[in-house]
Amino acid sequence: MSVVITVGSQWGDEGKGKIIDYLSEQADIVVRHQGGNNAGHTIRVEGVQHIFHIIPSGILHPEKVCIVGNGVVIDPAVILQEIDSLLSHNISVEPDRLKISGQAHVIMPYHKLLDSLEEERTGGRLGTTRRGIGPAYQDKAARIGIRLWDLIDPDIFRKKLRYTLEQKNRLITGVYGSQALQEENIIEEYRAYADRLRPFVCNTAEFLEISLARQKRILCEGNQGTLLDVDHGTYPYVTSTCTIAAGAATGAAIPPWRIDRILGIAKAFQTRVGEGPFPTELTGEIGNRLRNAGPVGEFGSTTGRPRRCGWLDLVLLRYAVRVGGINALAITKLDAVGEMDPIRVCVAYDSPDGEQRTFDGNANRFDKITPRYVSFPSWKRDISTVRRFEDLPQEAANYVRFIEEETGVPAVIVSVGPERGETICREDLFSR
Ligand code: GDP
Ligand code: IMO
Ligand code: MG
Repeated sequence: MSVVITVGSQWGDEGKGKIIDYLSEQADIVVRHQGGNNAGHTIRVEGVQHIFHIIPSGILHPEKVCIVGNGVVIDPAVILQEIDSLLSHNISVEPDRLKISGQAHVIMPYHKLLDSLEEERTGGRLGTTRRGIGPAYQDKAARIGIRLWDLIDPDIFRKKLRYTLEQKNRLITGVYGSQALQEENIIEEYRAYADRLRPFVCNTAEFLEISLARQKRILCEGNQGTLLDVDHGTYPYVTSTCTIAAGAATGAAIPPWRIDRILGIAKAFQTRVGEGPFPTELTGEIGNRLRNAGPVGEFGSTTGRPRRCGWLDLVLLRYAVRVGGINALAITKLDAVGEMDPIRVCVAYDSPDGEQRTFDGNANRFDKITPRYVSFPSWKRDISTVRRFEDLPQEAANYVRFIEEETGVPAVIVSVGPERGETICREDLFSR
């Protein structure tokens, strides 16, 4: 086994950071392949919390190599802040340990501005993170983006910026009535970023190719989640990237046939930040209790927004399994859902066309469905110290087994707390 891909199976924030940090111990290389600092991945090790937005969640393991692949969009200020924060915790971040693809695109000031201006114009139509993610990917597809290779070459950077900025300023002033951005200010700010980032920029595709030939174990870190995928998610309430496992093939240049395992990470209930349909959402008292269950509440790790909470939706989880080829599951926050009694799970939707057990990719239909639930008794016990599946209370084990039966996928990891060690591992994913 050499390539394991982790993906969010819901609308993001499934606890990917925690699981990736845990699995990094067994990997040699941890790779990010899409998204940008819209992601917020939380890791807790011995009471110290780290939140990563761009740097892969394997970085806390001193001997692992972390890669930011070509499919990522990078806000240079944010990645430099992360590097500085790691250094302040005495964690080494040298170019032999952090490698950034020269083909990754740079998030520019006009991307962030346009993201915010459009959200403001529409009264928050999508509820984006306003980090410039959508506009940066638009420019990539429009072939006017600036890549890391361009950023670190002052002449090329100036030339490309001039071309793009002229167009962006017309949009900023003409359509949005906002103030034009000044080329010289951007050049000065980004020159300083380029000087610091230059040593990290390289050909990560070649590095991965060589590493694969040497049988290195590679762990890919998904961002966002299947239901935020630009093709397969609840469009248009999605992010701008391919968030399923296939995204690793293009976003990091990993040949699809090398992918051995696809680990879907799913919370034992469901959350969403931003706009869009959410069939099992709980807006009242029970939703509040779910939001505050467990040692850490459900508030955005990137924007601090309260997350919308609801019961686990197996219709959507079955879909995530099917559309993304998930063949192993990690169930997180089992400890938190145990604070509810009873625990409910959506097993199907009732719709005018009859029972629906999976999603057809058409989010327009959500307003015509009613979730059908089954109830589980809670275990009402602290399970955060449990480390073997057979030591879980019967009710908790039954809840996990039910998810396995309904999705047809084994739950190889069960997470019972935010700390690295609060994890039940039933199979070594790299072993087969
Ligand atoms: P990510 O974006 O998928 O990495 O998830 P976030 O870090 O944004 O949000 C997940 C939250 O759940 C974080 O606060 C984690 O510390 C926390 N968390 C992860 N796993 C568990 C778990 O098993 N139990 C509890 N109680 N919290 C968890
Ligand atoms: P992680 O990796 C949860 C959501 C935003 C918004 C939509 C589009 O931590 O799971 P964008 O800024 O990407 O254009 O916003 O996607 N979103 C996330 N929600 N977790 C994330 O990342 C998210 N990244 C984006 O809230 O609804
Ligand atoms: Mg998150």
